[in-house]
Amino acid sequence: MSNNFKRYTITSALPYANGPIHIGHLAGVYVPADIYARYLRSKNQDVLFIGGSDEHGVPITIKARKEGVSPQAIVDRYHNIIKKSFEEFGISFDVYSRTSAPVHHETASAFFKKLYDEGKFIEKTSQQLYDETAHAFLADRYVTGTCPYCGYEKAYGDQCESCGTSLSPTELINPKSALSGAVPVLKETKHWYLPLNQYERWLKEWILEGHKNDWKTNVYGQVKSWIDQGLKPRAVTRDLDWGVKVPIDGAEGKVLYVWFDAPIGYISASKEWSLKTGKDWEPYWKSDNTKLVHFIGKDNIVFHCIIFPVMLHAEGSYLVPDNVPANEFLNLENDKISTSRNWAVWLHEYLEDFPGKQDVLRYVLTANAPETKDNDFTWKDFQARNNNELLAIFGNFVNRTLVLTKKYFDGKVPQRNELHEIDQATLESMKAFPEKISSSIELYRFREALSELMNLARLGNKYLTDNEPWKIFKTDTARVETVLNISLQIAANLAVLSEPFLPFSAAKLTNMLKTNTLKWNDAGSADLLHAGHQLGKPEFLFEKIEDAEVEKQVRKLLDTKKANEANAPANPAKDEIVYDDFVKMDIRVGTILEAEKVPKTKKLLKLKIDTGIDQRTVVSGIAGHYKPEEIIGKQVSVLVNLAPRKLRGIESQGMILMAEDKDGTLRFVSPTEKVSNGSEIK
Ligand code: MF3
Ligand code: ZN
Repeated sequence: MSNNFKRYTITSALPYANGPIHIGHLAGVYVPADIYARYLRSKNQDVLFIGGSDEHGVPITIKARKEGVSPQAIVDRYHNIIKKSFEEFGISFDVYSRTSAPVHHETASAFFKKLYDEGKFIEKTSQQLYDETAHAFLADRYVTGTCPYCGYEKAYGDQCESCGTSLSPTELINPKSALSGAVPVLKETKHWYLPLNQYERWLKEWILEGHKNDWKTNVYGQVKSWIDQGLKPRAVTRDLDWGVKVPIDGAEGKVLYVWFDAPIGYISASKEWSLKTGKDWEPYWKSDNTKLVHFIGKDNIVFHCIIFPVMLHAEGSYLVPDNVPANEFLNLENDKISTSRNWAVWLHEYLEDFPGKQDVLRYVLTANAPETKDNDFTWKDFQARNNNELLAIFGNFVNRTLVLTKKYFDGKVPQRNELHEIDQATLESMKAFPEKISSSIELYRFREALSELMNLARLGNKYLTDNEPWKIFKTDTARVETVLNISLQIAANLAVLSEPFLPFSAAKLTNMLKTNTLKWNDAGSADLLHAGHQLGKPEFLFEKIEDAEVEKQVRKLLDTKKANEANAPANPAKDEIVYDDFVKMDIRVGTILEAEKVPKTKKLLKLKIDTGIDQRTVVSGIAGHYKPEEIIGKQVSVLVNLAPRKLRGIESQGMILMAEDKDGTLRFVSPTEKVSNGSEIK
């Protein structure tokens, strides 16, 4: 091991208990975290791998309200589904806890109280959005409105999901209560703030200087840009009734902000583990020779790299993370995974549809992990990777080796005789694999590590094919003994080295080879199996996945798409108007002459349009729907007598008419036959 850590505390983001786990969660967080934990255990390291459900927060209460049940009923339901599916999938948590547990409420409460007593918070009264019909302050997702940065109309009070900017409810344009639909008013309320700005120096030193070279560039870059923009005090309490109560006088009706309590959940889970095992939890959080690593998705970066570390640092007795290897996002069949649109492959459904095939999904999600950029999961790729890689390379090599050994030597490991050059070269390359795979894993490059593992299987496959033992058994048994001995050593190495990635197949293989005691540090050796050692019965590690199986999955997704389209409600008709209202609008057919993106915006295109009466500039929010180069020359409808307005410093002289599909897609409204520019639409 390249460092002197004595123990490892590995956390994986606590999933919200308001929906099941999908492949995006797995690829981003749980599969890499599990590989890391299993690898370290195989290296005989002391590991505490933590998971649990995040059971507070507004989305959970909104869902409960919709279903007419209590928030506790919602989190009970999903906590159980999630916990069970993780277990079946082989995510090897040492503890899987939940934030509605009493131990968590006590821990989070005490944590807040300590910071409060030590004067680490700022107390501030401010005007916040209040729903007068529902008699409630509107925190976070209880309010929606237009994003002040990108114009997206369905932004939440805590974040715009279109441009990713984090918001506060009062920044929203045209805010609307998610409780009643009412337009909220401003009302005074008192809250406690963590003054992140006071920790800027410390953060700069710790991350920007201290982790410039070992943190992933996507993580480092996001953190740097946050710090460079200047940090502000951040409210850590809310006017809500679902959550950890604020443990001080005069704070009735207030709870801790979910992002304050949830990461403390890692600590509460450790306490729960301690009670269960009798081991002391404190060294895992407080000893300098502990390595703390947070596995998360990219949307969690600021919380795990800035806010939670500041909390830990301010508390004073805790460690801060050594690394936060956040992943980007996984898409599904070229579309963003979405719980609300049911656009996902759900883990509990996969486990039902593909029993015994946990490793196939683990393999595909690792081979295709969104480590440095967003990636795409497709069922076709899933099938191809199983059939052409797991089955054709790994499975085929192991199977040939075991079947031939059984056939020729009754399943006993034959001896190694005089070595040829190819034997020596093969053993030499084999020796290098444990180190190669280790160093990739320790750099959190799990795809690279997995591809090295497959290279070892390739080495074995090629070795068998080059030597063709099945052709020479009759004439040169001694040679066949050597070839199968070496092949079996490779197979035993594969059994050890594949365990973190493919634990179910590794267990099967270990069982066939009867090598239960081997661990990571044994690998590389050519003497894992001694001559005469009796092997178990050969079994298949992988099976072919047929077209029909993946076609069924693709059909399921297509059905989802159709259902989404059918279910999306059409907007109700607007109030009646008279003809005179209509004719006030001067709408002309025009042709787009030029189009370019407005710099530093995601949505805006600057267009030059020939309207027949003049040429003018129009700024339009269609960049997410059309590429500039594909719309030049198109005829569109333009409202030409709309008062000009400035967007990003550019004067927009009119508006392009668009048809908005139910899924939000925008399309031009154009004449079906070509007409001359300036034609009036009436
Ligand atoms: N529930 C959050 C999410 O799914 C993650 C919480 S991680 C924790 O994005 F550290 F706060 F627990
Ligand atoms: Zn936005």
